[in-house]
Amino acid sequence: MLTKLLPSTVATAEATADPADVFLFPEEESLISNAVPKRRQEFGTVRWCARQAMGALGVAPAAVLPGRRGVPQWAPSVVGSMTHCAGYRGVALAHERDFVSVGIDAEPNAPLRPGVLESIALPQELHRVRELEWAVPGVAWDRLLFSIKEAVYKAWFPLTGQELTFTDALVGLDAAQETFHARLLPGRDELSPAGPTTFSGRWSARDGVLVSAIAVPAHRPAEAAHSDAPRMCAAGSIR
Ligand SMILES: CC(C)(COP(=O)(O)OP(=O)(O)OC[C@H]1O[C@@H](n2cnc3c(N)ncnc32)[C@H](O)[C@@H]1OP(=O)(O)O)[C@@H](O)C(=O)NCCC(=O)NCCS
Repeated sequence: MLTKLLPSTVATAEATADPADVFLFPEEESLISNAVPKRRQEFGTVRWCARQAMGALGVAPAAVLPGRRGVPQWAPSVVGSMTHCAGYRGVALAHERDFVSVGIDAEPNAPLRPGVLESIALPQELHRVRELEWAVPGVAWDRLLFSIKEAVYKAWFPLTGQELTFTDALVGLDAAQETFHARLLPGRDELSPAGPTTFSGRWSARDGVLVSAIAVPAHRPAEAAHSDAPRMCAAGSIR
């Protein structure tokens, strides 16, 4: 799925099952020596994927350790993102010369628990999700909105070290093109100038899994900030 969602210069690797006997570096092993089996499996398989992506990118295999707030620490000049959910693990990696940041997120294609959407969505987003739920069945639009916001956070945090709340990003969804745009809104805190304030990405819903992916190019045209503005489609126009 990821290769279709990201530019070809982003190396990706995915798994839908956990291989037996995944190799971990000792410093990784020590992080999960007391973890429950589910955590061991997702941790190990996603790092197995990371090593494949490193190979595809032409960088030496290395441990992927968590930094501040869990952010994955990549080799110098490499940017990337990892995700895991039931039945899916994925990694996207790129050279810093090509992309300043990458953010990916996977979620089961199933509705959020009651009340969660209302706590993560802005009013326009709530309206759009309700519209799409009615018009385009087969996609858990509420969960997709959640996933996109997680992908935005994963692309934002490594650049800025700044936390975001779910209502700090306004997301516009395009159902037909399977794309999205997100814009960070000025909230309680000033947004760090170290990160972009707009994000464009692609999403997919296949085999029971939703995947959202963003790669922020190193060289963005000056007008990108305007053209990336979220498109909140008017009621009645389902795209
Ligand atoms: C960190 C967070 C995004 C992880 O997402 P998740 O859906 O719970 O889990 P996923 O399996 O998709 O991703 C886990 C991976 O994210 C990566 N990750 C963790 N913290 C991260 C951070 N601060 N920045 C970037 N990536 C991070 C790690 O690689 C982790 O894998 P690992 O634990 O095996 O190393 C989520 O737990 C979180 O804190 N969300 C709240 C912040 C947020 O999203 N706000 C919305 C802003 S609009």
